[in-house]
Amino acid sequence: MRAAVNTRYGPPDVVRITEVDRPVPGRGEVLVRIHATTVNRTDCGFRAGKPWIVRFFSGLTKPKVTINGSEFAGVVEELGGGVTSFAVGDRVFGFSEDRLGAHAQCLTVAEAGPIATIPADMSFEEVAPSTEGSHYALANIRASQITNGRRVLVHGATGAIGSAAVQLLKALGAIVTATCATGHVDLVRGLGADRVIDHTAADFTQDAQRYDVVFDAVGKSSFGRCRRLLKRRGIYLSTDLGPYSLNPLLALVTPLFGGRKVMFPIPPKHDHDETQELRRMLGTGAFRPVIDRRYPLDHIVEAYRYVETGKKVGNVVISVDPSDAVGA
Ligand SMILES: NC(=O)c1ccc[n+]([C@@H]2O[C@H](COP(=O)([O-])OP(=O)(O)OC[C@H]3O[C@@H](n4cnc5c(N)ncnc54)[C@H](OP(=O)(O)O)[C@@H]3O)[C@@H](O)[C@H]2O)c1
Repeated sequence: MRAAVNTRYGPPDVVRITEVDRPVPGRGEVLVRIHATTVNRTDCGFRAGKPWIVRFFSGLTKPKVTINGSEFAGVVEELGGGVTSFAVGDRVFGFSEDRLGAHAQCLTVAEAGPIATIPADMSFEEVAPSTEGSHYALANIRASQITNGRRVLVHGATGAIGSAAVQLLKALGAIVTATCATGHVDLVRGLGADRVIDHTAADFTQDAQRYDVVFDAVGKSSFGRCRRLLKRRGIYLSTDLGPYSLNPLLALVTPLFGGRKVMFPIPPKHDHDETQELRRMLGTGAFRPVIDRRYPLDHIVEAYRYVETGKKVGNVVISVDPSDAVGA
């Protein structure tokens, strides 16, 4: 089968499209023929080996896993022994968190893992970006125990994480203020934000409202700058380490003082239940991933380059099999 392989860390052009052996499904696993996947920020980190901390997971001097790609959508092509919950021909999507490997024509996934059937009205490309940004958004929302009626500011509502966060927060009944650049205001309103601040026209940290939670979904602010936006026991969340990589340390220290605090949750594993919950929200239309550009697998190096501009809007999809049709 064809796959996008990188055997060393480096810039996007370390990735080559080559022939590799097709994986064989083990007991309790299914083989998925992939139609669509994504290039996300996690793929960029694993490919580049940056920040250095990722190498403790991905291999110190060279990548242990040579095919990236965590999000997938495709068709079950073969069943391993004992599989009962899927049949050959099922349209499925999911998240390959540990093995990655979705930048390829086939992938094996545990039937009890993060995999679910695709809602009937969604194409492979539409559903492929459903599980990564939403996973990190959910991890932060759950850790900060945001519930109905809470006031939340999402900074960077046009990223993969931010665009999912706005939708998931609205589904919970939170009151959401979101920031984005001028050209994306309508998009972010369409995601359900109650109020949108154009961060290129106004300094959002000077906003007059006070929030239960400020969620920086693109890692472009700091606790120091956002502190004044928080209510007395408000929480600052960020998807990045922050200036001088201080966010993890602040998450340890700030709760000791009993007031405004930083949280830097380590996301739990993406499990079967989470994929089922996302499937339910996709089915009701409460969550629809935002798609920016699409690239064929052969042009995945360009996709990496674009994602690394930090300017993608939502998600970048890779078409592995171009015959992507609803119900195909
Ligand atoms: N913690 C984790 O485990 C984890 C996992 C994955 C990713 N991440 C991190 O999470 C962050 C977000 O990733 P993502 O893929 O969701 O985002 P992304 O898609 O790369 O975000 C792109 C968007 O960010 C906005 N943006 C760019 N610069 C900005 C600035 N200075 N201020 C405000 N907004 C700005 C832009 O929207 P506008 O043009 O509308 O401003 C752009 O559309 C990344 O820094 C990534 O490293 C963390």
